[in-house]
Amino acid sequence: MQWLFVVSVALFISGIGFIIAGARTLRTAAPVGAPVTMPVASIKQTMNAIVAPGADVIYKAVGTTTTATGVEDIAPRNDKEWAAVGNSAAALVESGHLLLVRGRALDTGDWAKMTREMIDAARATLAAADAKNANGILAAGGDLNESCDRCHAKYRRE
Ligand code: HEC
Repeated sequence: MQWLFVVSVALFISGIGFIIAGARTLRTAAPVGAPVTMPVASIKQTMNAIVAPGADVIYKAVGTTTTATGVEDIAPRNDKEWAAVGNSAAALVESGHLLLVRGRALDTGDWAKMTREMIDAARATLAAADAKNANGILAAGGDLNESCDRCHAKYRRE
């Protein structure tokens, strides 16, 4: 009987040990997500692949058009079209994060500031798409367009 007691006490203590060790690993576990890697796409590719197509969807989503019968408002007409604007705005926000990555960012001054202005305008566009607010898209789209122009004026060499 004595050895049974000793074994169960030993098991009990090692069990506690495992729990403590488990809690420790939980606390010190590395954060999930991809490790930092060197960027592959050039700024030009990032512009052509993500930034420009995203902005295009947003600009075309709202506005007015002149037809034979007069001036018509353009705005997303259903959930799917609103979602498409939101998707593009979200992609633009993330493309801003890509522009800030070390190895792609050109500096931590104006480059970072101008990228953040683009991110802010894209976030405002996303909020307007979530609220299905066409005027909000129009206003945020204007800010977005200005953020592109400001950065191109300083950093685009062509
Ligand atoms: C933080 C700076 C920055 C912001 C913000 C920015 N761009 Fe650019 N963009 C650049 C630079 C730099 C280039 C030139 C890249 C090159 O030629 O290597 C460029 C080039 C481009 C090009 C030309 C690509 C080509 O093939 O020559 C397009 C199109 C473009 N940007 C669209 C946009 C749009 C649309 C926005 C706004 C929604 C935007 N960019 C916002 C920095 C920026």
